[in-house]
Amino acid sequence: MMNRSEIARYARALRERLEGHRLAGWEPPLAAERIAPDLPAHTDHVQASPVTSSAPAETPRESGSSEKTLELLRGEVAGCSRCRLHEGRAQAVFGVGDPNARLMFVGEGPGSEEDRQGEPFVGPAGQLLDKIIVAMGLRRADVYIANVVKCRPPNNRNPRSDEMEACRGYLDQQIGRVAPEVIVALGTVAARALVGGELSMGKMRGRFHHYGEVPVMPTYHPAYLLRTPSEKRKVWEDIQQVMARLELGPDESPRSA
Ligand code: URA
Repeated sequence: MMNRSEIARYARALRERLEGHRLAGWEPPLAAERIAPDLPAHTDHVQASPVTSSAPAETPRESGSSEKTLELLRGEVAGCSRCRLHEGRAQAVFGVGDPNARLMFVGEGPGSEEDRQGEPFVGPAGQLLDKIIVAMGLRRADVYIANVVKCRPPNNRNPRSDEMEACRGYLDQQIGRVAPEVIVALGTVAARALVGGELSMGKMRGRFHHYGEVPVMPTYHPAYLLRTPSEKRKVWEDIQQVMARLELGPDESPRSA
């Protein structure tokens, strides 16, 4: 006969497996459905959340300070003309989410839908990213999402090194202000920009790298997953490592994390 803790361990292992299968089929996992059943797909509504960086009760993170400084930076980015990309943009796409998030996603640069709406990851790749976030038991509003470059490269080409260099300070400041505990780098461009080097995604993913002191998990870009769904399993493995680092167990309510 199994004792209580063995049953709990068994249930947890089963649950993790199920969650992985569900993510591979891109079904929202049960836990997330239960926790956030009617969450709007895209929102920059900022709320206290489990992935909000915790600070000692007596010295709470200066309320609103990251938000305020991020808003100042957003204004600066809106008028930026540091590189040629500003010429073709409808608007700069700054970042979205919880200014005190423990988890940050960094992509490459806005696509056409992001350029139109002024928010990162709102096109098809963004919808897949939302599913990944939900599969983690989180909501889009719980994390912070940004890109390496803030203006759409023409014809969705990769940003060039001088464009990334010109935009670099904005991303560094976003990371500094949000101060996430973990960053997920979506795609090779973002991963190389954050951790340096020239490795392929196949060689980078699956283990943590570093941006300064912040652990960075490189993984495949959701746009790549849309073209190559067979790689979803690897992304889920990477995401599970991130969840473990943040102590977001699949059977724990994120509200109590
Ligand atoms: N791809 C990215 O890298 N970023 C976005 O915001 C959208 C698509």
